[in-house]
Order: sequence, then structure tokens, then C-alpha cells
Amino acid sequence: MRFTAALRRNRLAAPLVMVAALVATGAAYAAIDSSTSAVQAAVTTETSVTQGKMLFAEGCSSCHGLNAEGTTDGPSLIGVGAAAVDFQVSSGRMPMATQGIQAPRKESIYSEEEIAALAAWVASLAPGPAIPTDEDINTAGANLAEGGEAFRVNCAQCHNFAGQGGALTGGKYAPNLNKATARQIYEAMLTGPQNMPIFSDETLPKEQKRAIIAYIEEMRNGANPGGLDLGKYGPVTEGLFAWTAGFLLLIVAAVWIGVKAK
Ligand code: HEC
Ligand code: HEC
Repeated sequence: MRFTAALRRNRLAAPLVMVAALVATGAAYAAIDSSTSAVQAAVTTETSVTQGKMLFAEGCSSCHGLNAEGTTDGPSLIGVGAAAVDFQVSSGRMPMATQGIQAPRKESIYSEEEIAALAAWVASLAPGPAIPTDEDINTAGANLAEGGEAFRVNCAQCHNFAGQGGALTGGKYAPNLNKATARQIYEAMLTGPQNMPIFSDETLPKEQKRAIIAYIEEMRNGANPGGLDLGKYGPVTEGLFAWTAGFLLLIVAAVWIGVKAK
């Protein structure tokens, strides 16, 4: 009591009380607001999980089973995570049209919302890698040189030095990387579709994944400093081209000089 009395007498007391009251109201408001938005988020996830279960039963269960437990026509999806579903369905690989060696990339037949619902349902069955956030795939300020190095070490042996793709054994192939979105590139690394290894965030830290994405996008948009890109088949083709074209030019020059000299 003597303390408050002392405070009241203080000239600073009134503004101090005001500030304290404001802070308290603000904090209370923030708490209420975040708890309502958390409730809202939970409700949305729940409806989308239910919607996802329905979509799955219609479009995917014939191969993956009603509870995603797998059948002879498709693997179990327990624990593959939302990232695998988002990757497979947004890149049009799933639903697989015909049983083949490898599901090709094509236009997705599901809307973004439906894909999110499918992913939410599969993720609700067992924990697995989540869909990368906007922050995960934000390449602003990424180190391109580091990305190039990491790409050559980890990806080039299958996808080629310029991301043009290449054949693997058994009729399989590593696709050209021209079409994948930043999110799909991240998801491919996280989930390792088919013959591709999984690059978890422990083996290949987020920072390096971002740098690799930036590098792939740079290669895709980048100009060809040498003029024609010659399919980016690498130094051998390009060297061969330079030699052939160079020799032709020399021969033409020699003939021309010969004719002039007469
Ligand atoms: C005609 C059969 C078939 C249908 C229909 C089908 N799938 Fe698949 N799915 C497969 C096969 C086979 C594989 C494994 C081969 C591969 O990954 O290319 C696979 C792989 C997957 C994977 C990758 C699993 C992993 O380990 O990374 C996911 C995720 C997936 N399917 C989701 C779906 C979803 C979601 C649907 C429905 C929209 C669907 N599939 C429809 C046959 C099918
Ligand atoms: C051992 C070979 C191999 C290595 C190494 C590899 N990949 Fe792949 N990658 C594949 C195969 C095979 C597929 C196709 C999977 C499918 O069709 O289901 C693929 C698919 C992809 C796709 C999907 C492309 C699309 O158009 O949908 C991306 C993106 C990708 N890889 C990026 C990478 C990156 C980045 C690295 C390095 C960190 C890497 N890959 C390393 C074999 C490989």
C-alpha cells in the first residue's frame, strides 16, 4: 500500500499505469485472437482431412487401398507425408494413369485445394515430411555458387550438369528439371521419388536446398554466354562443334585466299 501510494505521488505514475494497462489489454487481445485463429485452423484442417479421405477413396484407393495401406498395384502411403502427396499429385504423376515403369509428369487433374486435402488426410495417418513452407523455398539471397557446387555433387550424376535429365537403368529416367516448381524441387529432395535418393534436412541442410533451387532456376532462365546452347550436352559436344565449325571456316578462308591469289 505504501508502495502504490508512493507511486501515485510520483509524477510518472499516471503514464506508467496507462502503459501497463495498454500492454495488458494488448496481450490479452493477442492471446484471444491467436486462440480463435488456432481453433479456426483446426476446423479447416479437419474439414480438409475429411474431404481428402473422400477424394482418396474415389481416385487413389484402387491402387493404394482405402486406408492407404497399399495393394499389389501401389505401395503403402503410411508415413510418406504431405510432401510426397503434394509432389506426386501436383506434378500430375498421381493418379497413375497406366501401370508402367515410371509415372510421367503431366497436368494435375486436382485443384490446389483438393491436393491440400489429399495431403492433409495422408499426413493425418502417420507423421512424415511436411510440405515445405514459403520460407523454405524463398531463394532471395541464396548463394548461387554454393548451389552449383551442391548440385554437381548431389544431382548432376542423374539429372545431367545442366539439369537436362538422363536415362537410368531398366528403362527409367531422371527427368529434365525445366518444369518443376521451387516447391516440387524441394519436395523431390525431401521424399526421393522412385530411384531418387532422399536428401533429408540433416544430410542436405535447408540452406543448401534453397541454394540448389536458386541454381536450378538460374540455369533455366540463364542466358547462354556462348550463343547457342547446343542442347547443353557439355564441353565435348561444344568442343566438337567449335572444332568442326572452326575447320570449315579455315578451309573456306584458305580457298578464298587461293582464289584471290590467282
Ligand atoms: C493405377 C494405380 C495408382 C493410382 C490410381 C494412384 N497411384 Fe499413387 N502410386 C502408384 C504406384 C505404382 C506408385 C509407386 C511408383 C512410383 O512412385 O512411381 C505410386 C506412388 C505414389 C506415391 C509416392 C510414395 C512414396 O513412397 O513417395 C504417392 C504419394 C502416391 N502414389 C499418391 C497417390 C495419390 C494421392 C493418388 C490419388 C490421387 C494415387 N497415388 C493414385 C499407383 C497408383
Ligand atoms: C540416383 C539418381 C538421382 C539423383 C542423384 C537425383 N535425382 Fe532427382 N530424380 C530422379 C528420378 C528417377 C526422378 C523421377 C521420379 C519419378 O518420376 O517418380 C527424379 C525426379 C526429380 C524431380 C522432379 C522433376 C519433375 O519435373 O517433376 C526433381 C525436381 C528432382 N528430381 C531434383 C533433384 C535434385 C535437386 C537432386 C539433387 C539434390 C536430385 N534430383 C538427385 C533421380 C535422381
